[in-house]
Amino acid sequence: MANYDRKDTYYLKAKEEGYRSRASYKLLEINDKFKLFHKNSKVLDLGAWPGGWLQVAKKLSPQGFIAGIDLVEIEPIEGVYTVTGDACDDEKINDILEKAGGKFDIVMSDMSSKLTGIREADQAAICGILELALFVMQKTLKQNGVFIAKVFKGGDIDKIIKEARKLFGTIKRAELNATRKTSNEFYIICLDYKATNV
Ligand SMILES: C[S@@+](CC[C@H](N)C(=O)[O-])C[C@H]1O[C@@H](n2cnc3c(N)ncnc32)[C@H](O)[C@@H]1O
Repeated sequence: MANYDRKDTYYLKAKEEGYRSRASYKLLEINDKFKLFHKNSKVLDLGAWPGGWLQVAKKLSPQGFIAGIDLVEIEPIEGVYTVTGDACDDEKINDILEKAGGKFDIVMSDMSSKLTGIREADQAAICGILELALFVMQKTLKQNGVFIAKVFKGGDIDKIIKEARKLFGTIKRAELNATRKTSNEFYIICLDYKATNV
């Protein structure tokens, strides 16, 4: 049994307010703090199932192009383009870029993999998923764009973030109220992307 209250306040609030996941409140909290979304922002969500972040992105950027990809099929959301597949699949990412008519203002990743309980394996997976998000971000984010990513403490994470600092004007860390107290996750909010391939 999970050692946290699965049906906590945010879970119940999400049910009440029609969000598909309690994670929606994390993105709302990030936007409250950093004011990243504009009414016509183009937004790509990596690891988007079940779609809580997509719902929030559509609400905050009602005139923007919103797209999401996940290994798991996402039930349709009106006005949102969703793709089933791996974020590292070039064909899928190119398809999204084509539909969007070019790169994105905001690329965000709430991707996480299933943990095994074996410490070394889990830390490698956690680092791998941030590296994957950074890799896809470099193909899809506009110059001066914003990258948001979930990160778990441990392993080589600080080294990866240090490397990522070279790609952005500023990187801020955010620990969120909506994160479960038992989790060691935090988010990085990366501003002012310095694209190298424009
Ligand atoms: C915590 S959930 C995302 C929740 C989402 N932000 C929301 O608000 O509904 C993490 C997702 O990452 C997805 N994921 C993990 N690795 C992936 C990959 N390589 N490509 C695409 N999606 C991936 C998982 O399938 C899972 O659905």
